[in-house]
Amino acid sequence: MSEIELLKTRILKDGKALPGNILKVDSFLNHQLDVMLLHEMGKEIAARFKGDGVTKILTIEASGIAVASLCGLVMEVPVVFAKKNQTANLGGDVYSASVESFTHNRTYNICVSKKYLSSADRILLVDDFLANGRALLGLSQIVEEAGAELVGAAIAIEKGFQGGGDMIRRKGIRVESLAIIDKMDDEGNITFRA
Ligand code: G4P
Repeated sequence: MSEIELLKTRILKDGKALPGNILKVDSFLNHQLDVMLLHEMGKEIAARFKGDGVTKILTIEASGIAVASLCGLVMEVPVVFAKKNQTANLGGDVYSASVESFTHNRTYNICVSKKYLSSADRILLVDDFLANGRALLGLSQIVEEAGAELVGAAIAIEKGFQGGGDMIRRKGIRVESLAIIDKMDDEGNITFRA
């Protein structure tokens, strides 16, 4: 089975579609981690961005870190995660952006120390979910602020019906999602984009 089929099969087997279009994947991606599956996903993402000269992966805490780490392992590049609401702890020398999350109905700041991103970097953004795309947008602003090159974004699960992926692609950013969900209904049925 291909890496993508592995993830889709696992979503169908263990994912739970909750009211409000939330997909719970706590048993393998968001709480307990199936690192073997994550490793396969990392290999697929590495293959898609092979030859793009990625020097660093940028993700956001908390749930993005796992998939980003396995990508970093396969691609042999460092992984940096943006911290939420911790500007004070990192001191003044940070790149920061504001993220207005519809999913969580709140706005928060994300920041990355200037020590870990530079204008020489070619950055791949990685995250577990792409819903309304606000987290990815914030990360792309940080890459821009650092003067680094944004190679693209790799996502485990894109909720295609929420439009974040379209919004990010319209900005000219390459987005590669391993599984795109087009529909989730009240009976818990999940339809993937072919
Ligand atoms: P947003 O603009 O609605 O906030 O959407 P975005 O695509 O930026 O995703 C925001 C957060 O919501 C992300 O978590 C993402 O993982 C989570 N998320 C969105 N939809 C779902 C879903 O259906 N299922 C699950 N499990 N998560 C979803 P985050 O803000 O990075 O926080 P964290 O959960 O990683 O700590």
